[in-house]
Amino acid sequence: MQTITLSSDTDFAGWRDAARALVLDGVKPADVTWMVTDSAPDLFGDDGVTPQSRAKSSVTFNVPARFVDFAKSAILHRDVERFAILYRLLCRIHADPDLMQVATDRDVALVQDMSKAVHRDQHKMKAFVRFREIGREPKNRFVAWFEPAHHIVEATSPFFARRFADMEWTIMTPDVCAHWDGARVRITPGVDRTSAPSEDRLEETWLSYYASIFNPARLKIKAMQAEMPKKYWRNLPEAKLIAPLIAKSGQSVTAMIADAATDAKPAPQRREPPMTKAHRSPTGSIEALRDEAADCRACPLWEDATQTVFGEGPKTARLMMVGEQPGDKEDLAGQPFVGPAGQILDRALKEAGIDRRLVYVTNAVKHFKFVPRGKIRLHQKPNTSELKACRPWYQRERDAIKPDLVVALGATAAHSVLGKATPVNANRGRLIELDEGGRALITVHPSYLLRLPDKEAKVREYARFVDDLIIAAGVLNDAKAA
Ligand code: URA
Repeated sequence: MQTITLSSDTDFAGWRDAARALVLDGVKPADVTWMVTDSAPDLFGDDGVTPQSRAKSSVTFNVPARFVDFAKSAILHRDVERFAILYRLLCRIHADPDLMQVATDRDVALVQDMSKAVHRDQHKMKAFVRFREIGREPKNRFVAWFEPAHHIVEATSPFFARRFADMEWTIMTPDVCAHWDGARVRITPGVDRTSAPSEDRLEETWLSYYASIFNPARLKIKAMQAEMPKKYWRNLPEAKLIAPLIAKSGQSVTAMIADAATDAKPAPQRREPPMTKAHRSPTGSIEALRDEAADCRACPLWEDATQTVFGEGPKTARLMMVGEQPGDKEDLAGQPFVGPAGQILDRALKEAGIDRRLVYVTNAVKHFKFVPRGKIRLHQKPNTSELKACRPWYQRERDAIKPDLVVALGATAAHSVLGKATPVNANRGRLIELDEGGRALITVHPSYLLRLPDKEAKVREYARFVDDLIIAAGVLNDAKAA
């Protein structure tokens, strides 16, 4: 029996060096015990080999990149057996290099599931860590408390370093703490929950921000609970707002409708809840695509974004609308067109006689691209390679929905829908036959209307936008009548 002692729970390099040497020595998985320094009991240690004490062999062997990718994340799983499972799979891959292709193999599936769980946990950490400001400038620090399900803090802290590069911050967890001083991330041992700060100014800011983005007309309690499991609620300052906001929501929706009536504006519509599990169909369905896209790494935009913002709407939609990319609000909410551009879109659709609840709404690029400016995240236009990397998602959404008409909002969407750069002004407002079936209509992006400097141009361009959407409504009516 050999005991391998790794330097930490996340010591991938140590595991890799030891595992490689063990495979080359022909050591069977059953003859290895894996331990981590802190948890390793000194009692009963036999040969106590550490990867560092093992002479590095000059002989080596190749493993598929796919295995390395999965192993790097699976090793962060909290399962104490993970090192042994990975070693067993490595031994089997050494004998059968194509094994990773066999998705039904028990070890392959185990490692893939661990890797998925780790990615999911990283996503939760990116979405739910909330910093609280401690002290006052110039000696202030932003501190957050988080309880990860897996050993993800070191691997996820570069994301926070990029996003909050200008702040000095600390993320405390029971496993380890991560500290950013503006230049590098330091990792120190974990702390007790009582070290987490409670009240401060940032909390108030966050609370009012959260209340301002909370839209009762879009309230989806089930989806909210699924996205934000209860165990995270107690660490979120805004959690205490959720119950009152939910309780108030019936009242707020009524108030919104009443406001709209006195304004003689159309009443805001309650959107259909996103597809729930009950609506799910097998692989190839929108839900299966959405799950797959949650881990998309096809371009670097996932690194700084909070999450993949996939399309949403009924799978029977006859109309699909494609925007450019999620904005700040969409990135946080995980839904397309819920911010200012979404409000214009909702209003224009209503005026054109289109029920947004019947439209499948998505974006050409599924991750928010931005540059941080202090606490603000400034939108950046996606480049062609990001657009191309993301296009397969649009194509697969379109193939799943099979709409009669795809409306491209702006140049980026037009590029994705037509597969080539297509100027908006020269092509807007006319129906274009698509090779894959159905038709496309190009119009401007609603954000363009928001950016117009003078009121007159805003009114004129908004009316043209509605006119384009009326053409879309006509196609839908013709299809219905046929
Ligand atoms: N702009 C877009 O193109 N899409 C969104 O989802 C939001 C703003």
